[in-house]
Amino acid sequence: MSTAAKTLLLLPGDGIGPEVTAVARRVAGRLISQGLALEISEAPFGGAAIDAGGTPISDETVAAALAADAVLMGAVGGPHWADQPFDNRPEAGLLRLRAAMNVYANLRPARCFNALADASSLKRIFVENLDILFVRELTGGVYFGTPRGIETLENGERRGVNTHVYTSSEIRRVARIAFELARGRKREVVSAEKGNVMEAGLLWRQEVQALRDAEYPDIALSHMLADNMAMQLVKNPKQFDTILTDNLFGDILSDQAAMLTGSLGMLPSAAIGDAGKPGLYEPIHGSAPDIAGRGVANPCAAILSFAMALRYSLGAPELADRVEAAVSAALDGGARTADLGGNLSTAAMGDAVLAQLG
Ligand code: NAD
Ligand code: IPM
Ligand code: MN
Repeated sequence: MSTAAKTLLLLPGDGIGPEVTAVARRVAGRLISQGLALEISEAPFGGAAIDAGGTPISDETVAAALAADAVLMGAVGGPHWADQPFDNRPEAGLLRLRAAMNVYANLRPARCFNALADASSLKRIFVENLDILFVRELTGGVYFGTPRGIETLENGERRGVNTHVYTSSEIRRVARIAFELARGRKREVVSAEKGNVMEAGLLWRQEVQALRDAEYPDIALSHMLADNMAMQLVKNPKQFDTILTDNLFGDILSDQAAMLTGSLGMLPSAAIGDAGKPGLYEPIHGSAPDIAGRGVANPCAAILSFAMALRYSLGAPELADRVEAAVSAALDGGARTADLGGNLSTAAMGDAVLAQLG
């Protein structure tokens, strides 16, 4: 193990964010006590940062994120901040952080742990051993395109505008990550867009195909319209190995895939950019205002996001394996939060994972 400690910036955020990141922090603490050289610091983020200082993320926190080896966040947002100006909402802070860190590829693995095959809303045979990797573009598309806004027209009507836009280099850099990762998997990539109605979707398809033909002839690439993919994910999810999507389709399709694995509370993610730059690790779920403050949220997505940080940013893939195995073993042992049909609290679920970690 290297002697220079790596650094992790923790951004608990809002709602269940602080509840689930507290558990991830305990898991990190256990590994530190066993020799992992990791320094953890924390900063307010999202609504909590608005309450503390007026903006969802301060310049100082952005600088701390860029200086860290990895950033682990909980979730942001909630009804309390609904009246904030749009560009000062908690979610705007998250978009600002993703853009500042230039983490353009969001890896969202939808894996069905064996013990949870009956927790899915689909029958066991459709989800058993499911292992899909979503590679979602994260710093472009309709989330960031301009012009955008709400304006009032001369006739008094209001008009809302967003722009879905991609350049060829934005498409190619995320496609490259999908192809590289597919080489460690089944070498099968399905790319989703709506090239039948959107020019930017057609460009997406053309650029992804051109990169594959030029540099990744060993990868089997196919293209699927995103609406059909939504249907195929429910009809026969095991047909997919690696899925490449734009920002918006990836957001929607990965939430859908989460239910194949049992619960949205199980899905971690890693947002990465160019090699050597810090990654941003986040559960794919939100702040869950409906259950926040009750201590019942599932902390697994946060724990598994920390495992992804160990793997991709903290140089400790063997510890990532150990953390993932501990979650799996805890589930095998029957540990379940409410979303999985059980009655363990967030902290007790954390205890069950820690008990398996040794
Ligand atoms: P959500 O993901 O917060 O919740 C959807 C449903 O899933 C809720 O019923 C919730 O209780 C449940 N759920 C989510 N995570 C869970 C967990 N760990 N354990 C148990 N149940 C869990 O989505 P939403 O309700 O549409 O959004 C709430 C807020 O969160 C919004 O402000 C939204 O913008 C924000 N959000 C933030 C992020 C993020 O910070 N990365 C992601 C998604 C949504
Ligand atoms: C996610 C969330 C975010 C997104 C929001 C909160 C900005 O839904 O991480 O999936 O849409 O990317
Ligand atoms: Mn989402």
